[in-house]
Amino acid sequence: NKINNIRIALDGPAAAGKSTAAKKIAEKLGFIYIDTGAMYRTLTLKAVNQQVDPKNEQALYNLLMNTVIELKPGEDGQLVFLDGREVTREIREQQVTKHVSDVALHKAVRSEMVKRQQNLLKNGGIVMDGRDIGTAVIPDAELKVFMSATAEERARRRFEEHQSQGIQSDLQQLKSEIEERDFIDSTREVSPLTKAEDAIELDTTHMTIDEVVNKVTELAAERGALR
Ligand code: DC
Repeated sequence: NKINNIRIALDGPAAAGKSTAAKKIAEKLGFIYIDTGAMYRTLTLKAVNQQVDPKNEQALYNLLMNTVIELKPGEDGQLVFLDGREVTREIREQQVTKHVSDVALHKAVRSEMVKRQQNLLKNGGIVMDGRDIGTAVIPDAELKVFMSATAEERARRRFEEHQSQGIQSDLQQLKSEIEERDFIDSTREVSPLTKAEDAIELDTTHMTIDEVVNKVTELAAERGALR
């Protein structure tokens, strides 16, 4: 009987390369990848479209209770569905990114999201990325990794990503947006972005994606993950 069902919690600040790494780690290990940020982004998209105020906790909670968010594996990674409609690209747009941290700070929203995320865990073999996975969603995860990088480096990576997609952006502006999101995410009252005590910190500022992927899969193997 293979013990290949460990749970990997991958946390860290905005644009640290978590989702790119998580996708590849999951592929290497034959695990399922779950991007929890996509769930907060999907609710934010619906709120923006329906002109629900990101500061209105009760309205957001009611909206969430009437919202179906699905994550499904696709050819190039995870596909995201909002009430049955595919929104994989839309949730990455500026207007969503701008408001998502405000939507994600509410207690009622977070507890429902955490509940939904925990429901996805039933069958192990999982890589989950977010801000509170090691601290709130899977506090007993077999492996917790906290990925960091300087704000300059994270802005630079996001800038290059945009360039390769033909999207115009301003490096300084990207950096200040990233710093603003870090600030809201790490100073909110409910499960703020912090490294879990037992998480392994990985400063990726000077690491390539492959180095990050190899390091995490090594750590996973040490904890019993088999391919
Ligand atoms: O990882 P991301 O940039 O797609 O996440 C978008 C926002 O969602 C992030 O700024 C904070 C919030 N988030 C959160 O509060 N908890 C998570 N587990 C994942 C994301």
